[in-house]
Amino acid sequence: MSNKKLSGDVYHPTEEVINNANAKCDELYNFAERDYEGFWAKEAEELHWFQKWNKVLDDSNKPFFKWFTDGKTNICYNCLDVHLDSARRNKLALIWEGEDGEFKSFSYFALHRDVNKFANVLKSLGVHKGDRVTIYMGRVPELAIAMLACARIGAVHSVVYGGFSVEALHERIDDSESKVLITCDGAYQRGKIIELKQISDEALQRAATVSSVVVIKRTGHDINMEPGRDMWYHDLMSLPIASNDENVEMMDAEDPLFLLYTSGTTGKPKAILHVHGGYMVGTYTTLKYVFDIHEEDRFWCAADPGWITGHSYIVYGPLLNGVTSFMYEGAPTYPYPSRWWQMIEKYGINILYTAPTAIRGLMRFGEAWPKRHDLSTLRLLGTVGEPINPEAWKWYYKVIGNEKCPIMDTWWQTETGMFMITPMPCTPLKPGSGTLPFPGLQMDILDEEGNPVKANEEGFLVIKNPWPAMLRTIWNDPDRYVEQYWSKYDGMYLTGDSAKRDEDGYYWIIGRVDDVIKVSGYRLGSAEIESALVSHPAVVEAAAIALPHEIKGNAIHAYVILRSGYKRTDTLVEELRKHVGHEMGPIAKPEHIEVVDSLPKTRSGKIMRRVLKAKALGVDPGNISTLAE
Ligand code: WT7
Repeated sequence: MSNKKLSGDVYHPTEEVINNANAKCDELYNFAERDYEGFWAKEAEELHWFQKWNKVLDDSNKPFFKWFTDGKTNICYNCLDVHLDSARRNKLALIWEGEDGEFKSFSYFALHRDVNKFANVLKSLGVHKGDRVTIYMGRVPELAIAMLACARIGAVHSVVYGGFSVEALHERIDDSESKVLITCDGAYQRGKIIELKQISDEALQRAATVSSVVVIKRTGHDINMEPGRDMWYHDLMSLPIASNDENVEMMDAEDPLFLLYTSGTTGKPKAILHVHGGYMVGTYTTLKYVFDIHEEDRFWCAADPGWITGHSYIVYGPLLNGVTSFMYEGAPTYPYPSRWWQMIEKYGINILYTAPTAIRGLMRFGEAWPKRHDLSTLRLLGTVGEPINPEAWKWYYKVIGNEKCPIMDTWWQTETGMFMITPMPCTPLKPGSGTLPFPGLQMDILDEEGNPVKANEEGFLVIKNPWPAMLRTIWNDPDRYVEQYWSKYDGMYLTGDSAKRDEDGYYWIIGRVDDVIKVSGYRLGSAEIESALVSHPAVVEAAAIALPHEIKGNAIHAYVILRSGYKRTDTLVEELRKHVGHEMGPIAKPEHIEVVDSLPKTRSGKIMRRVLKAKALGVDPGNISTLAE
C-alpha cells in the first residue's frame, strides 16, 4: 500500500494487525499483477491434487473458462483428509450451538468419520458421481456433513435455503432433477419450529424425481414419514451401510461440485454451477488472506449455509484452511439481543463475518447489550450482502471491534464464488467502501457505451479477467449464461451492480441495476415474487419492487390487479401476503400490497417497475418514452 494521502473518512489498521497478517500486501498485489496465473498456481500448490494440472487457465472457449485443466482433486478430501496426519486431527473443525442452547462439536477426525459414513449411506441409496442431491435444512452441523458427503463421492449438491418454502423448493428439485432430498423434521427459529418436513412433503407432491428422503431429527416433534421413501438419518448412520470404507472420488478440476439457485433479472431462478478445482482454490486463498486465518482462530461466518456465503465461508473455506468454524442455528436476538455477544464471549470467537442488516438490527437495541460481554477475543470483523451505511459501520467498528478490528467489507456474488472487492488487513478503510479488487483482479466501471466513467461517477461494474472460483455456467442453460453475463460488453463479466470509484480508486457499490431485490441481504427476484402472487386465484397481474427499509435495506412492495369478481379487503391482502410466504418463504412476503387497476407497461407489454418505484418514492421516473400510455 502506498503512503499517498487518502481522501475522506479513513481508518488505518494498527501496526499489530499489519505485522501479524498472512498477507504481505504489497508483495501479493505485485505478484498477482505481474504473474496472475503464477499467483493462483502457487496457491493451488498448497492444496492436495491426486494429479497436477497441465494448464492454470484455459481460455480457449470463452466465456467458458477452465482452471487447472487435467488436475485431479476432491474438495472434501482437502477439507478433511489432509488434516488427519497432523495435530489438526483432534482440533475442532466445527462448533455448533442450537437456538435452544444445545451444543455440538466435531474434531477434524470426527467430522471426517461422519462425512465418510454418510457418503457411504448416499451411495447405498443409489447416488452416483454426477447425480444431484437437494439439501433443505436448518442451520445444523448435518447440513455441512451432507454437503461434504456429496462432494466426497462426486454428487452435486443443491442446497435450498431453509427459509424458502413449497414452490421455491419444488422448482429447485425439479430443475436439478435431484434423486435424493436431505431435510430435517424441523428447524428452530425465534423459538418456533419451521416445518421443514411438512414443506418438503408438499413440494414432493409436485416433484417427481426424488426417490429417497433422508430426515435429520432436530426438533423431535411428530412428523409424517412416508414408508419406503423417508428414512431417518440416525437410523441410516447406525446400519452396516454406513461403513468406514474409504470412498473419495477422484474428481476432475472442472467436475461439478454444486448448484446454487439464485435470482436473476427475469423468470425462474437460475442454477449457478461451481466446480471442484477452481472454487476450492478461490475460497481457500481469499479466506486465508482477507480474514487473515491463523491456526488457532475461531472463525464465525453468521450467514446461512443455504446461500453462497455459507457455502464458501462456513463450510468450504474454513475447512480448507484447517481452522475452526462456528455455526449458530437461530436468530441473533433470541431470546435476548445479547445472544451473539454471549456466544462470542463463550467460545472466544476471533473473527465475525456478518451482514449490514444484522448489524443494524442489533444496533437498535443499543450498546448496553454488547458492553456486558467480553468481546476482546475479536481480531477482525467482516460484512457482506449489501452496501453498509457508515453509521452501522462505525457502530460495528467502535462498539463491537473496540476500534482495533479492521472491517472487511467484502463485495462478491453467488456467481463469483469468492471475495472480489475487499480490503486486506493492511488496507486503510473507508466506511461504506469495499475498497479494492482482490489481488490480480481487473475491474472497471463503465457507461452505457462501454467507456470507463470518471472518478465519482456512477456506472456498471464489470470484471475484466477470469478468476478461479467463477461460475462455469448456468446449469442446463449455457445460452443464458452467455447472454446474462457476457453479452453487454465484449469479453467482460457484467455484475448487475452499479458502482462508483473515488479519486483513490476505492469502489463504492450503489446497488443492483436489474430486477434483483436484496431484502436483509437475501437475494430475490421481482419475477419470482410476481409469479407467486399470480399463482393465487384472486390475482391476474402483479408487479414487485424494492423500497428502502431502515433495517432490511430494502423491503418488497407489490402491486396487484385483481381478477374480476374479487374485491379488495384487508383479509384478501393479508391472504396474498401469506400465500407468497407459503409458496416462496417468509423472506419474500411483501411488506405492503396495493391493489391497482392497471400497471405501467412498455408497448411490448413489459411491466416498468422503475416507474412504479419512482412514483412510490416521489421522484422523477426518468425516460418514459417507451411507456404504453
Ligand atoms: C449481490 C450478490 C456474496 C455473498 C452475499 C450475496 C450485493 C454483496 C456486497 C457488499 C455492497 C454487496 C451486490 C451483489 N452485495 N456484497 N459488500 N457491498 N453490495 O450474494 O446473493 O449472490 O448477491 O449482493 O448487489 O451483486 P448474492
